[in-house]
Amino acid sequence: MTTSSPQDALSLSVTEAAMRSFATASNPRLGEVMALLVKHLHAFVQESHLTKAEWLQGLEFLTASAAITDGERNEFSLISDIMGISSMVDVVSQPVGGTPSSVLGPFHNHDSKVKPNGSDLTDGQPGERTWFKGRVVGVDGQPIPNAELDFWQNADNGLYPAQDPEQDPHNLRCKIKCEADGSFNLLTIRPHPYTVPTDGPVGALLRASNRGIWRPAHYHVIVSAPGHVGLVTELFPEGSDYIDNDTVFGVRPGLVVPFVPCHDKAVAERFGIETPFLEVNFEFCLVKAS
Ligand code: BEZ
Ligand code: FE
Repeated sequence: MTTSSPQDALSLSVTEAAMRSFATASNPRLGEVMALLVKHLHAFVQESHLTKAEWLQGLEFLTASAAITDGERNEFSLISDIMGISSMVDVVSQPVGGTPSSVLGPFHNHDSKVKPNGSDLTDGQPGERTWFKGRVVGVDGQPIPNAELDFWQNADNGLYPAQDPEQDPHNLRCKIKCEADGSFNLLTIRPHPYTVPTDGPVGALLRASNRGIWRPAHYHVIVSAPGHVGLVTELFPEGSDYIDNDTVFGVRPGLVVPFVPCHDKAVAERFGIETPFLEVNFEFCLVKAS
């Protein structure tokens, strides 16, 4: 690094000292990550000529985010999401060769019920009936036996159970054990676009930035199988509004899928639904754990 003024020299000594201060971390990875974080945050302060008033505003934003965060709601995750950091972590940590990963979001429920493959999740509720089917395979295209899907989505009113007291907490979500040939299927409804929570500091930031608050419609899926790297991903209906401006940057090529009309009478009879219904067919590809 070259210096051209006394202020540059002082900045450099502050940055170097702050980076060095983490060299004693008992966990070397902690030391490495913190030193790099300090380096880039200092560079940001310098490059943007951040004023004291702006720095204070930033601290107030974080303080307000802490105040609204509780067991149900995490404003810090949302900050990470709307800044594209969650997506960037996805991109850099993703193993090469499998289905792209995408953001987890705040509405996953670890206690989802295991249901038999072929289950009907619709339970009489409104929504366009959609037969979601496919396979879980390895990068060689061979089926992976004993894979498990953890699936969740929003209801026809655009809300998840955590946002809607009228919904059962397990509505439109389940875990499914796939077949030995990697196949799975379930009956659900077409998902809908919805806005990220906007009643906190992140909402104020999005409005002040004239940014969108919407996510395109999507299914959330976590796919796991013994001996393979777990996959957290989403599937987006082709043509959904906001596909090109997801406010959390979760859309990836390969995750946008056609929802096509299906006239299969045997399937309609099995689920007691009318034809045509919608069909989504997707092959999840998992990478072997090393
Ligand atoms: C979601 O997909 O549910 C979601 C993801 C990120 C932020 C908010 C919601
Ligand atoms: Fe979601």
